[in-house]
Amino acid sequence: MSHHLLSVDSLSRDDVDHLMRVAARMEPIAQRRQVTRVLEGAVLGNLFFEASTRTRVSFNAAFCRLGGSVCDTTGFTFSSMAKGESLYDTSRVMSGYCDAIVMRHPELGSVAEFAAATHVPVINGGDGPGEHPSQALLDLYTIDKEFTRLGKQLAGAHVLMTGDLKYGRTVHSLIKLLSLYAPMRITLVAPPGLEMPSQLIDLVTSRGHRVEQRDSLAQDYTDVDVVYTTRIQKERFTAEMSEGFCLSRDFTVDRAFLDTRCGRDTLVMHPLPRDSRPEANDLDVDLNGDPRLAVFRQTDNGIPVRMAIFATLLEVDQLIEQELRPVRWFVPPRLGVDDPTL
Ligand code: NCD
Repeated sequence: MSHHLLSVDSLSRDDVDHLMRVAARMEPIAQRRQVTRVLEGAVLGNLFFEASTRTRVSFNAAFCRLGGSVCDTTGFTFSSMAKGESLYDTSRVMSGYCDAIVMRHPELGSVAEFAAATHVPVINGGDGPGEHPSQALLDLYTIDKEFTRLGKQLAGAHVLMTGDLKYGRTVHSLIKLLSLYAPMRITLVAPPGLEMPSQLIDLVTSRGHRVEQRDSLAQDYTDVDVVYTTRIQKERFTAEMSEGFCLSRDFTVDRAFLDTRCGRDTLVMHPLPRDSRPEANDLDVDLNGDPRLAVFRQTDNGIPVRMAIFATLLEVDQLIEQELRPVRWFVPPRLGVDDPTL
């Protein structure tokens, strides 16, 4: 595996399987039953030049749960990029301070440019409409874990992706990652103008997967195993696109859609955040507490998966078991008030 994680393109099927296995071994630590100090003394640089809650905090928490410490900077205003500093200079400077760097930036290719100037491992936390590889890894980990619980297989599964498939970087990384696995059926449902880029469809089709494109959710999807819905990335729209754009209510994934259009155990995933403003027509809150809604299990899985990425890139993945100690503080048996018991 390359010493940076910039795109799913650099991952082989073996690399992904390895990360999935290491993530499973991180579960006792992520679930706060055991602690480790394998990264004691290591420092993570978390550089976020675009809005983030879960990616920034979960990378931070994952590094801390491995025993490391985190230094971070958020937004352009408080960094030297506001004074015109280049990605090259920032990268070299940060390399003197940190043992690993996570960066999110609004421009496509910016994280790769930053990584080209350093030998310190760099992880792409999202580069504009480009990629978000760690999100795809945690999405795959979630699908695999949920399928094991439901007695389903990834091979031959039917995955539906909907919402903003043009600018949504999570679906770009996820479709590539899924394409490394045994052939499945992928249905893409996007409003006009927000379809999945054709080169990604070509790639997935060339690897033997069956891809179908539709423009409405108001149809039957009874054999769909996973509905992966996404937020409309209005911040990436051009002025012409923003003018008068309104997502039709038909794109809302809600209880009625699941009950009438999908199967009994269809899972609902979303990278989050969901846009809760009514006119956004994003994933509805009426599914909260419903066991089919996997979004918070998905966010929880961000911790073991990001721990696995750090442990692998920093080459301590073989040391985890030797370092484990029991947790001594109070941990609630359930985390969220609406969490279903599965
Ligand atoms: C996404 C992102 O930033 O790409 N969120 C995330 O990292 N989980 C999705 C989004 O912003 O809509």
